Amino acid sequence: MLKIGVLASGRGSNFQAIINAIKTGYLKASVEVLITDNPAAYAIKRAEDNGIAGLVMRPPDYSSPDTYYKRVADELVKRGVGLVVLAGFMRVVRKPLIDAFPMKIMNIHPALLPSFPGLHAQRQAVSYGVKLSGCTVHFVDEGMDTGPVIIQAAVPVYHDDTEESLSGRILKYEHRIFPYAIRLFAEGRLEVEGRVVRIQGLIKDEGAIVNPSLDS
Ligand code: GRF
Repeated sequence: MLKIGVLASGRGSNFQAIINAIKTGYLKASVEVLITDNPAAYAIKRAEDNGIAGLVMRPPDYSSPDTYYKRVADELVKRGVGLVVLAGFMRVVRKPLIDAFPMKIMNIHPALLPSFPGLHAQRQAVSYGVKLSGCTVHFVDEGMDTGPVIIQAAVPVYHDDTEESLSGRILKYEHRIFPYAIRLFAEGRLEVEGRVVRIQGLIKDEGAIVNPSLDS
């Protein structure tokens, strides 16, 4: 069974969605460890409540960013982790971690990449005036939100949306597509060829959830 390591910096609602998907049997996997760079992260409480080991590892406590990511990789390897999940981990991960888990690190981003990478993606979408945004699960490479796209969900953007209202609409779909992407990985159904991720045994609309609902 797939062993997952989760990296999170804050609230951890995506982490919770993964825990819930495991509990219901939707996702056949286990979370072996939560690693956070933020001692105040609510994700720590979620780990505690669910009997998951939680580690606080802060970059300033290490001699360099590369050393930090090497130590993070060591902790994950030690626990037999087969997939690293970035669930609101607010840092660009570096080579020592990426090299230890090639195409085995997934991130969720609250926009339709390659639009609006980086911080405050929902705010960027509202101020740009796009009419569709959404969320993307992708494999992680050394760039900022640049790795191969696994699955996306699109939601409408209204002219009176705020960063908060759009974030809420997108978040519901984050909680849906992240466990789904992890499940596809656990089932061995993701094949990466260059930038393109092929989903084995794809059935209609599985690679994208488009306009899932017009409700806010
Ligand atoms: C989410 O919007 C995610 O897309 C982004 O950071 C946020 C984390 O939220 N990368 P949570 O901590 O999972 O609640």
